[in-house]
Amino acid sequence: MTLAMRTRPAEADVDVAAAVEPPGVRLRRLRRSPALRALVQETRLHPSMLVAPLFVRAGSGAREPIPSMPGVARLSPDEAAAEAARLAELGVGGVLLFGLPEAKDALGSGASIDDGIVQETFGRIRALDLPLVAIADTCLCEYTDHGHCGPLAADGSVDNDAALVRLAETAVSQARAGADVVAPSAMMDGQVAAIRSALDAAGLSEIAIMAYASKHASAFYGPFREAADSAPAFGDRRGYQMDPANGREAMREIALDVAEGADLLLVKPALPGLDLIAAARARFDLPIAAYQVSGEYAMLMAAAERGWLDGRRAMTEAVTAIVRAGAGIVITYAAADLATWLREDR
Ligand code: PBG
Repeated sequence: MTLAMRTRPAEADVDVAAAVEPPGVRLRRLRRSPALRALVQETRLHPSMLVAPLFVRAGSGAREPIPSMPGVARLSPDEAAAEAARLAELGVGGVLLFGLPEAKDALGSGASIDDGIVQETFGRIRALDLPLVAIADTCLCEYTDHGHCGPLAADGSVDNDAALVRLAETAVSQARAGADVVAPSAMMDGQVAAIRSALDAAGLSEIAIMAYASKHASAFYGPFREAADSAPAFGDRRGYQMDPANGREAMREIALDVAEGADLLLVKPALPGLDLIAAARARFDLPIAAYQVSGEYAMLMAAAERGWLDGRRAMTEAVTAIVRAGAGIVITYAAADLATWLREDR
């Protein structure tokens, strides 16, 4: 006998309404009014937990829009400092600087020169004495002519140990210029330990390291690579960034960075990595940041531009989910917008 052939009781046999019991627990009681909903809200965003990435290029008075990231521009150092002041005014917690140098070479020399583009910008931000944290992205891919995150070995792979020296030089230079925190994002083995030793040796032991501890080789970095002109000239980053399929490996990466002396942990990308944020929050007691990357931002902005979703609500929901998962710090291109909305909602 097949399932379809089984006989079922006729409708008239059952009093459905009488069979339905009223629930003993009514969670809707606490959703009745905006005041009740506000009272029981579990996850609250605050501007001070947001970090705004800034792209810095040469020149002055320049704001060059990035087409795939509406509302984000490549800024000259003076404009970047003005933007940092505006963000501080909004109560945003920090800025994360990426440099777009005029010249690139095989070693990414521009990353660690004293008059480099981010170094100049840190100097300007420091001079303003703003109440926000100045963070440096410590990587070489924006500065190398081949677009990889470290110098190349003879076989074309990235030379891990040569990269460590370049990353350490870069971090020292960024810290000397005024960065409060350095954030190594190259995914080289041993990068946190190398940077910690170099900073300490340079008398910069008070400078904190925000380790991009869990960083996947993600398609969601696409718009960033256009913005930073940092797409690899050949190959991809899968030889050093993690396979997005791997979560246990992410925990190993994080544990290593903790052991090497990381002060803060970063999980990236954010929404595709909510499980990792939650797992990291449960296992480690360091502050956890999550990076809502360029592609996560671009897809929401693109859909909102088309009227396919409410951009403000969708962005707020995405960032709230990232915090609900366990991030105490969110790096987001929407930092200024979110801070503005949070003021309006107050
Ligand atoms: C540098 C770096 C990248 C991002 C942050 N730091 C690019 C990459 O790894 O390819 C991506 C950020 C974003 O997409 O918003 N290594």
